[in-house]
Amino acid sequence: ARTRERFSPEGRAARCRTIAELRALAKRSVPKPIFDYADGAAWDEVTARRNLAAFEDVTLHPKALTDVSAVDLRTTILGGEVALPIIAAPTGLTGLQHPDGEVAIARAAHRAGTITTVSTMASCTLEEVAEASAGRRWFQLYVMSDRGLVDELLARATDNGYEALVLTVDVQVAGVRERDVRNGFSVPPRISLRTLAQGVAHPRWSAGFVANPRMVPANLGWEGSASATLAASVNKAFDPTVTWDDLADLRSRWKGPVIVKGVMRADDAQRCVEHGADALVVSNHGGRQLDGAAASIEALPAIADAVGDRAELYLDSGIRRGTDIVKALALGARAVMIGRALMYGIGAAGEAGARRAFGILDAELRVALALAGYPRAADLGMDAVSVR
Ligand code: FNR
Repeated sequence: ARTRERFSPEGRAARCRTIAELRALAKRSVPKPIFDYADGAAWDEVTARRNLAAFEDVTLHPKALTDVSAVDLRTTILGGEVALPIIAAPTGLTGLQHPDGEVAIARAAHRAGTITTVSTMASCTLEEVAEASAGRRWFQLYVMSDRGLVDELLARATDNGYEALVLTVDVQVAGVRERDVRNGFSVPPRISLRTLAQGVAHPRWSAGFVANPRMVPANLGWEGSASATLAASVNKAFDPTVTWDDLADLRSRWKGPVIVKGVMRADDAQRCVEHGADALVVSNHGGRQLDGAAASIEALPAIADAVGDRAELYLDSGIRRGTDIVKALALGARAVMIGRALMYGIGAAGEAGARRAFGILDAELRVALALAGYPRAADLGMDAVSVR
């Protein structure tokens, strides 16, 4: 029994020491097209690589001789305390990595003392996530051409205790993710000789495949629709005419905080604030949309300068280490969001893997803050870093 436990997905995930190891475990645990859907990015994946590399161009200036015996990761996000400055990013079709999908992520985020964000494209319903976890939750909206569906989603989010609306603005059209094209990745996954050969018949995953009802977005009424590429489905359903007027409209209709996700320019950030946004996520969607876009950490300083304290700033795209979080906080973010770190976690071991992802980053962040001489994460500022 001890051996079985040791080599169970949970046992293996518990032994991962880094997000990179969790990624390697996820890669071995799910079929290639499913791993590539999470790990891949647009076109040449230049921006995805830049997201990681740009953190190396930010250097830390550790402060000496401060008492770091009590490291404190707590901060407030939109007026409520979180235990650590890390928020679960919205990810679509999370249930492909593991049947528990967004429920697993929500439970892990709650246990870590932080917020989860449920995507419009989630594999679990808004109701299921609300039922499964009492933690703080936000709803991420893609504006669909069917505005009746948008109204319905907003009403369901309100009714189920989603406190903030996260409007993602960087999917005007679907990004072209060539790994998905090459793999013939489609939603729901098609069973064919090709997909079988790719490992949809993967031993751990195939058992789930038969039982797994989480192969299509659960909140959009797509169940039973024909298998299609994700890009085709997105381009059919999403509204490419969305402009500032829609932000103004959503701001006036949504009673809670509004967060705009996918802001990369200081002028846009300024305009979001003027439209009443409470917070912004500086993000290039993990390099999955416009390849060639700047790394989000490169875009952060100018946006922080333009926004000042008029809105909260969060950053995502490329967070893999505690030191990445230190750098983002020092350059003006109040918190970071993590996408792939959690996708690797649940691909490796469902909720236990997602918990491991939070655990790894929490532990790294504590050591990094102590060594940087900033025991309170919330005290980090520009004097702690320089940008090469
Ligand atoms: C995403 N992301 C995303 N964003 C969003 O607003 N709605 C969504 O449905 C999705 N779906 C999604 C699926 C997958 C598999 C990934 C990897 C990402 C983007 C996500 O919220 C976040 O911006 C990035 O993941 C951040 O980059 P890292 O942490 O993955 O490097």
